[in-house]
Amino acid sequence: MSNSANQKIRLDYNNMMQEFVGGYGFTREDFDGLAEKVSAATTAMKAKRAQGLMDWRDLPHNQDKIVDEILAYVAAKADAFDAFVVLGIGGSALGPMAVQQAVNHPYYNELPRDKRGGYPKFYVVDNVDPERLVYLFDIIDVDKCLFNVVSKSGSTSETMSQFMIIKQMLEEKLGPDACRHIVCTTDSEKGNLIKIAQQEGYKTFIIPSGVGGRFSELTPVGLLPAAFAGIDIRALLAGAAYMDELCNNEDIQSNPGHMYGLLNYIAMRKGMPMSVMMPYADSLKYISDWYAQLWAESLGKKYDNGGNVVNVGPTPIKALGVTDQHSQVQLYVEGPYDKIVVLMGVDEYRETITIPKIYGDIPSLGFLGGATHNELITVEQLSTEYALLSSGRPNMTITLPRVNEFTIGQLLYLFEVATGFAGELLNINAFDQPGVEEGKNATYAMFGRPGYEDKKKELDARPAKKDGFII
Ligand code: PA5
Repeated sequence: MSNSANQKIRLDYNNMMQEFVGGYGFTREDFDGLAEKVSAATTAMKAKRAQGLMDWRDLPHNQDKIVDEILAYVAAKADAFDAFVVLGIGGSALGPMAVQQAVNHPYYNELPRDKRGGYPKFYVVDNVDPERLVYLFDIIDVDKCLFNVVSKSGSTSETMSQFMIIKQMLEEKLGPDACRHIVCTTDSEKGNLIKIAQQEGYKTFIIPSGVGGRFSELTPVGLLPAAFAGIDIRALLAGAAYMDELCNNEDIQSNPGHMYGLLNYIAMRKGMPMSVMMPYADSLKYISDWYAQLWAESLGKKYDNGGNVVNVGPTPIKALGVTDQHSQVQLYVEGPYDKIVVLMGVDEYRETITIPKIYGDIPSLGFLGGATHNELITVEQLSTEYALLSSGRPNMTITLPRVNEFTIGQLLYLFEVATGFAGELLNINAFDQPGVEEGKNATYAMFGRPGYEDKKKELDARPAKKDGFII
């Protein structure tokens, strides 16, 4: 892409350095002392990619065919449906939500269809809170919707139960035509979903087997919903490809993914395991949700690669600028020195709004007149940066020239590489999730799923709660 350079997102870590932020900041020695570790992690990232152990790294480059297939499918189907509804959870929901919210109009579903580019409304149903699904039926007609059942494992209870509810509703209304309203995104072999899809004739897109849930946004997991929301998925992948180029740089100073991973790793070593992600753009709010899963589920681990109990991991915290200046920032400026703050800004917002020049006779209001909200939000971001700096709180800023498919593709890929790299530095497996599996297995056991009888016995043996501790 010819305009890559002026669309490049920037990572500014000046305020992580002791020379700016004081005692809790990082020194040259912090970096120099880790040079060997960094070099070993860089080599491991390369080697694992070459060995096919990080297939998600190649997604920006190897999906031309699937993109064509997705676009053809969307072109054939989009007109026929009022709404596109994703049924998925975790890595099968957060990416689709984040990208749609980032790129599209914030009130997308409320816009008339022509202002949505002719595309259907867009919903993601991830939780199994019964109210969520029942209330959705108040605003959609299931027989006018296309449901995208997304599950890498093809067996996640939340997603499969939603699918079962919807399937029955559709069949009661539409009989054999029901299958035209369901499209599945899943593994080519594993789990129930692929088998059901094949038996019942649902259109299916495949998640490459070597790509794990939270690294799957750039597969059909994210690409299909994005395309149904009118998002340019080729530009999204081009942004990721551009970031891949940067993240291949051996020199960490030119490698934003590795540098972001390293900065967080040093922060953890210095007793700052919490990291606040605070975008100054509503459009990026759900990127923080996606990032929180990627960061926490990948890096929060009990064992290191040698099998030693390490119980490591950063704690991602979601905040929104400026909203949380009026809520959480007090803690970040004056609370314990246990966290770093990542501010995320935008050079050029997609809209501009000017504050009218009224109340000139009231100096404490008049000063706002004639300025734009664009200036106000940017100044507030700089002010939070300053408040953090002046109270000695390490912080860094990621800036997007604009929010669009190309910059969002870069951002997603940057965080994915950073996660892999931080995993190498921590010497843990960033790509499994035994803690999540434990919860899934306990659910299966409590619900009486065959094969989980021993787990059920284990659960039944847990100490009974005492009334004395319930007030
Ligand atoms: O990253 C992960 O592996 C998980 O968060 C999964 O995405 C989540 O549990 C949903 O799993 P699945 O896509 O198999 O239904």
